[in-house]
Amino acid sequence: MKDKLNIAILGAGNIGTAIASGLAKAGTVSADRITLTRRKTHLLDDMKAQGFAVCADNKEAIAKSNVVIVAVEPQQLDELMTEIGSELKAGHHILVSVVSGVDLAQLRQWVGGDIECVRAMPNTAPAVGESMTCLASEKNDGGGVAAARQIFDSVGRTLVIDEELMGAATALGACGVAFFLRAIRAASQGGIEIGFHS
Ligand SMILES: NC(=O)c1ccc[n+]([C@@H]2O[C@H](COP(=O)([O-])OP(=O)(O)OC[C@H]3O[C@@H](n4cnc5c(N)ncnc54)[C@H](OP(=O)(O)O)[C@@H]3O)[C@@H](O)[C@H]2O)c1
Repeated sequence: MKDKLNIAILGAGNIGTAIASGLAKAGTVSADRITLTRRKTHLLDDMKAQGFAVCADNKEAIAKSNVVIVAVEPQQLDELMTEIGSELKAGHHILVSVVSGVDLAQLRQWVGGDIECVRAMPNTAPAVGESMTCLASEKNDGGGVAAARQIFDSVGRTLVIDEELMGAATALGACGVAFFLRAIRAASQGGIEIGFHS
């Protein structure tokens, strides 16, 4: 992407704020060029205090950005995309979706055919610069993927994959890490139960 990155993260919950924190920490994009949205904006007061732009208005966030990352729950995506689909401008905006289980063909139903769309599957580790993020797009060598790589390479590592592998990437890279962490916690709790000091 030739222009400076200005990023809107629509649906700044767990993963949205993790990506924002990682990007600012890495120095890829300063916090003031990342706009975070959610409806309960008071829950983003700490992010605001760190310099991120925060608002409840998704359209306002899009108007200030050239990369739009959607990070809502799958069942919340229809309402969000119906609201913002026509706000995205071909040649200016790149749409990156981290929403699990929603494919590029479904995203295309909400945005025009000329908008570059990329699916990204990170895990919560972008906050500490250690995310393994799989990326897929209709044109895996296009400008959308290049911009997504610029973003996610700076908060960990990326791998461009065929979209048909996205389900596996979700199970292995996103949820899989959570299961390992539960196993580690269970082992440490077990250790305490059998007499070791925490
Ligand atoms: N967590 C992970 O490690 C991870 C990893 C990879 C992919 N993902 C995917 O990322 C997505 C989000 O996961 P999450 O764990 O971050 O969920 P989450 O914490 O529930 O975040 C979703 C956020 O979206 C906001 N939201 C809902 N509707 C909205 C709207 N119309 N406009 C603006 N904001 C809206 C919600 O806040 P309000 O209710 O205040 O609006 C909430 O903060 C899911 O699809 C998940 O599968 C998550």
